[in-house]
Amino acid sequence: MGRAVRLSVAGVGNNVSALLQGVYFYADLVQNGHDEYKLPGIKNPRIGDIAVSAVKFVGAFDVDPGKIGKDLRDAIVTPPNNYPRLAADVPVQDVLVEPGIENDGGESMVTAVTKSLIESGTEVLLYSLPTGRQHLAELYARAALDAGVAFVNCTPENIARDPALLSDFQEAGLPLVGDDLASHLGTSVVHRALLQLLGERGITMTSSYQLNVGGNEDFRNLLVSGSSKRTSKLNALAQAGIETSNIVMVPSAAFIPHLGDRKVAMVNIEGVGWGQQTVSLDVLLKVQDSSNAAGVIIDLVRIAAVSLREGTAGFPRAAIAMLKSPPIGTNGRA
Ligand SMILES: NC(=O)c1ccc[n+]([C@@H]2O[C@H](COP(=O)([O-])OP(=O)(O)OC[C@H]3O[C@@H](n4cnc5c(N)ncnc54)[C@H](O)[C@@H]3O)[C@@H](O)[C@H]2O)c1
Repeated sequence: MGRAVRLSVAGVGNNVSALLQGVYFYADLVQNGHDEYKLPGIKNPRIGDIAVSAVKFVGAFDVDPGKIGKDLRDAIVTPPNNYPRLAADVPVQDVLVEPGIENDGGESMVTAVTKSLIESGTEVLLYSLPTGRQHLAELYARAALDAGVAFVNCTPENIARDPALLSDFQEAGLPLVGDDLASHLGTSVVHRALLQLLGERGITMTSSYQLNVGGNEDFRNLLVSGSSKRTSKLNALAQAGIETSNIVMVPSAAFIPHLGDRKVAMVNIEGVGWGQQTVSLDVLLKVQDSSNAAGVIIDLVRIAAVSLREGTAGFPRAAIAMLKSPPIGTNGRA
């Protein structure tokens, strides 16, 4: 199944819970005789020679006192995380969650994370903090650079799109993957596909909106820190050449605790056809939010590892389709 990716994570939230549990879920399926090339919910059974379950967690950072000091296996199920438990036997990881970099954190915190990444033999650092922490994203990216590891940015913060950072990673011979993952069957890809369909059929879109609600911490945070996510969701449509001036994005319209990690998204599109007569389309999408993320993170992490091992530095083009906001110029559009 290929040499396991040595992965460290910054932010031990629902994304990481879904990723870690999923790695063991799929390992169990294969061990029980399931065909590795027909796994449910998997697009790429192998990337390079790396299988879905070939990820070894070697480091973890968080600032939640309820998670720091715990083995990663226990930290992922510590509230407020509320991703469900998968039918998987997750063993003790022998990875204790270490204190992460704080917003007002000085050089010493970056140095401590860098040192830990080097000592654990990390190949890839996954950045999965709450949205809206640009400064922290830059500090973690710097720690990855200093440690000589690849960086994957799950969030809408400007990291791979920052020309200076991208060039630093390139010069250091390191892959930089970002920004903001486009979930497996997320609202962005559904919205984009529907708008493309209208265009193909000659219907003129006049207005559109997207409302997302959920009951995990991401939705609570996006209520107050949603601006970079709003821009990133528009980027996901602009990537396909869609005019976005009449489109309104609401990353979190409400935090609804009883939904837990389930997300409900409403997409509305208004248009006109022949004789300027109206066409109206409403779609309701319901998904397990963090499974939707992990199904793509598993590919981004393996792309980063393969690039690192092959000595391909900078942004790997193989990641474009899995991101809402890849660097300007990688797909010919802003
Ligand atoms: N479908 C999806 O779930 C999806 C899709 C695209 C992007 N994302 C983005 O991925 C990110 C993570 O999502 P999540 O659902 O796992 O969020 P989450 O809120 O469950 O987890 C975030 C974790 O980061 C920790 N954290 C906060 N500050 C920190 C710091 N300074 N250092 C280290 N850790 C810190 C929190 O304590 C928490 O454990 C979010 O920015 C989200 O918008 C998610």
